[in-house]
Amino acid sequence: MRILGIETSCDETGIAIYDESQGIMAHRIYSQIAVHADYGGVVPELASRDHVRKTIPLIKEVLKDANMTPQELDGVAYTAGPGLVGALLVGCSIGRSLAYGWNIPAVPVHHMEGHLLAPMLEDDVPEFPFVALLVSGGHTMLVRVDGIGHYQLLGESVDDAAGEAFDKTAKLLGLDYPGGPVLAKMAEQGEKGKYKFPRPMTDRPGLDFSFSGLKTFAANCIRKETEQQGVMSEQTHADIAYAFQEAVVDTLAIKCRRALEQCQLKRLVIAGGVSANTELRAKLAQITAKLKGKVYYPRPEFCTDNGAMIAYAGMQRLKAGVTTDLTFKATPRWPL
Ligand code: KG4
Ligand code: ZN
Repeated sequence: MRILGIETSCDETGIAIYDESQGIMAHRIYSQIAVHADYGGVVPELASRDHVRKTIPLIKEVLKDANMTPQELDGVAYTAGPGLVGALLVGCSIGRSLAYGWNIPAVPVHHMEGHLLAPMLEDDVPEFPFVALLVSGGHTMLVRVDGIGHYQLLGESVDDAAGEAFDKTAKLLGLDYPGGPVLAKMAEQGEKGKYKFPRPMTDRPGLDFSFSGLKTFAANCIRKETEQQGVMSEQTHADIAYAFQEAVVDTLAIKCRRALEQCQLKRLVIAGGVSANTELRAKLAQITAKLKGKVYYPRPEFCTDNGAMIAYAGMQRLKAGVTTDLTFKATPRWPL
């Protein structure tokens, strides 16, 4: 079985072809970061327009890269939600129309299920059941995964997602959108122990998260330092970035350990943009090793939004009999 995957839920156009026996035949990701950089965040209208420009040309390129014709495809999977409604509609309408024209099934895919299954694209595939930490710009969730489609939400953020907190704190430090990876780079120069950020919601039972207080804590640090120093030094920027990242990573790690213990599982999967963070990976490797378990994650380009994870999730859905008729819809808010 071979599936074309289309991802257009936010600011990346991701297209891929996944073959059941050969794996990823081809994949391309076009990032709109440059389009939104001047605005300090994603502008939904510009995102939709750019997806309109890029989706079909990228599909043609991916077919060419895979040396395939549409007649060799068995289905078209597209992200139907959650995400920006205009952006989603581009992928939904193109995906649905191509499937109609090519006379093959169309499969709507949940974006977070795509992230959740992204580690399955690697050689070292985690066995079910496992606990998954999904950390992206829009979501922070802990999920118990017993099999494809068998997901139990264990906890989630009650306010900002972890990636959102990274991006907002990065903005306070004067970094461009999306600041998460840049803040992580800046933190490499930071000194441990200069600031002590809180570990929100770790002093009470439960698996929910709250990250908006960390951004406020960073804002207060920056205000105090600016009052004292006039212009904040490079080192102070790095020290704040370090303390912020350390707090997010510790908080996520504490809740992951708790979730693994609660579920009596040893396998942890991390996915979503923030799972590219090297400190987070190192910390989660440590805690799973202590539990005699293991952490699994996708390669960096499949941590952030991509078409391969949608093609893979779509293939699983198609095998389970999920398709859609000609009345497709985008679902901007959609629980996993
Ligand atoms: O999964 P994703 O590509 O898009 C959403 O579905 O949201 O995640 C993007 C998020 C952004 O907030 C970005 O700053 C964050 O992932 N991110 C990182 C890193 N790489 C991406 N955050 C911290 N450290 C990183 N290395
Ligand atoms: Zn995503």
